[in-house]
Amino acid sequence: MSADDLMINRRTAVAGAGVAAVAVAIAACSSSDDSSDTSTKSEPAPAGQSGNIVGKTSEVPVGGGAILGGVVVTQPSAGTFLAFSPVCPHKGCNVDGVAGGTINCPCHGSKFNLNGGVVTGPATTGLAPRSVTVDGDSLVVT
Ligand code: FES
Repeated sequence: MSADDLMINRRTAVAGAGVAAVAVAIAACSSSDDSSDTSTKSEPAPAGQSGNIVGKTSEVPVGGGAILGGVVVTQPSAGTFLAFSPVCPHKGCNVDGVAGGTINCPCHGSKFNLNGGVVTGPATTGLAPRSVTVDGDSLVVT
């Protein structure tokens, strides 16, 4: 074995030990981070799922709807509330109102029914649904 071979072997051994040490450090950090992340991430999720109050049920007429808190909320029949993203699926404008029984986009004239489906294009797909629940007289969207 020559001196060069010994140097390469020594370098290889040192580098290998360094890689091993880094791997152990990463494993130790990631395992402790994972356990703390699991406990901290699992707690905020239910809070986020509790939703936002966007308005009162009285603000949404039966057979109509309203844009409340940036969300389209309709009431197709008494006591039945639906919610949708305001973003028009045609080119991404926000719908600007509910009138004449439809949810209306000001940009190119698309109209959506109170269930979010397309009545008049150019949009070819309906509004994206959101989840809405009633809590007392409040509308809660998640
Ligand atoms: S973006 Fe709504 S109709 Fe075009």
